[in-house]
Amino acid sequence: MSVQARQTEVRLIGRSDAIRRIEEDLECAARSDAKVLITGETGVGKEVVSRLIHSRSARASAPLVTLNCAGLPDSLLESELFGHVRGSFTGAYRDKPGLLEMAPNGTVFLDEVGEMSTRMQVVLLRFLESGEIQRIGADRSHTRVNVRLITATNRDLQAQIASGGFREDLYFRLNVVRLVIPPLRERAEDIPLLVNHFVNFYVNQHKVAPTEISSAAMDALISYRWPGNIRELKNVVERIILKSAGTTIRETDLPTDVTRATGVIHSSGADAALAAQARVSQADELATLMLKHGESFWSAVYPVFMSRDLTRTDLRKIVQTGLETTNGNYRLMVQLFNMPQDDYKRFLSFLRKHDCHLPFQRFRAAPARLQQSSPQAPLRAVAKG
Ligand SMILES: Nc1ncnc2c1ncn2[C@@H]1O[C@H](COP(=O)(O)OP(=O)(O)OP(=O)(O)O)[C@@H](O)[C@H]1O
Ligand SMILES: [Mg+2]
Repeated sequence: MSVQARQTEVRLIGRSDAIRRIEEDLECAARSDAKVLITGETGVGKEVVSRLIHSRSARASAPLVTLNCAGLPDSLLESELFGHVRGSFTGAYRDKPGLLEMAPNGTVFLDEVGEMSTRMQVVLLRFLESGEIQRIGADRSHTRVNVRLITATNRDLQAQIASGGFREDLYFRLNVVRLVIPPLRERAEDIPLLVNHFVNFYVNQHKVAPTEISSAAMDALISYRWPGNIRELKNVVERIILKSAGTTIRETDLPTDVTRATGVIHSSGADAALAAQARVSQADELATLMLKHGESFWSAVYPVFMSRDLTRTDLRKIVQTGLETTNGNYRLMVQLFNMPQDDYKRFLSFLRKHDCHLPFQRFRAAPARLQQSSPQAPLRAVAKG
């Protein structure tokens, strides 16, 4: 969570129609005070867009407060948002204002709002209806605040409403202005601009010799499907800049995730064996995002599966990787896939619901591999299996 009094310069790089449309929509959103709901896969730029809306709005000189709702237990989330009074729970030694009070006349950005519990959804709805802040432990409202709310999620809220996980009345309140940011693979013309932008950025940041990208390497970067979107692209560029400082970057300098998947994408549909290999690569890529880049299962795998870009077979492969790595322990897998321990039940019910809960017994024989230094081993195991 963060409070930003002054904006650092942010810019949307891209020249696709999608980016132009987002620029127009966010200008329009900045002129009004309406609530905004931003949706899109992980790493597409939802937070960047929220910062731009704030910094171009009449509220720009007031703070922008950001709070990520994922992984925070209800009590903490409520206390962060609304504050608490002294003695309201163990450890509440003094009155503490919430983030909403810290952004008078500013903007509050609630990230991953789809992760909020149903109880917290009620609390948020009550606040949106009254504008009143009631600190935890207080018997009446403390004050009213004037804040603008921007929310974001990579979940399909309508599907969540249908399954009873998200309140429809809250959805209608939040979804006044809607901004949908398409995944990077649907706006591939932005990739060269983004690559060049991040190359310059990291050359400056790491003070390494300028470098250029060969056209074959750029083609590979353009063809890759970027499940982690711009965040993943940014990480890949930083890695190749550090590795190949000063020399021209060739296709072979790119991470294997990129080149392997690309090779398969070029020839996808050619025959069943190649198509099967492509699926392995995708499961592999997503596992790498979690095991090597610290992405959470909910942001790396879940949205891709829910949007049907990942098959059930692929999801089972990812679960298999988890079971192989943790010696058949689903609790450890929650940790391995960068989820809070409290998500254990939710994770298991998700897997059961989609028939991807594999029996753990056959993974119990081999010694656990969680402590291994190289996370590559289990990934290779998936590629073979
Ligand atoms: N159009 C863009 N131009 C330049 N940088 C971008 C753009 N879109 C995203 N980024 C960069 O990509 C990274 C991910 O963006 P951001 O955090 O806004 O994504 P997100 O959609 O909020 O992701 P998550 O769902 O995982 O929270 C950030 O470092 C951001 O600066
Ligand atoms: Mg975000």
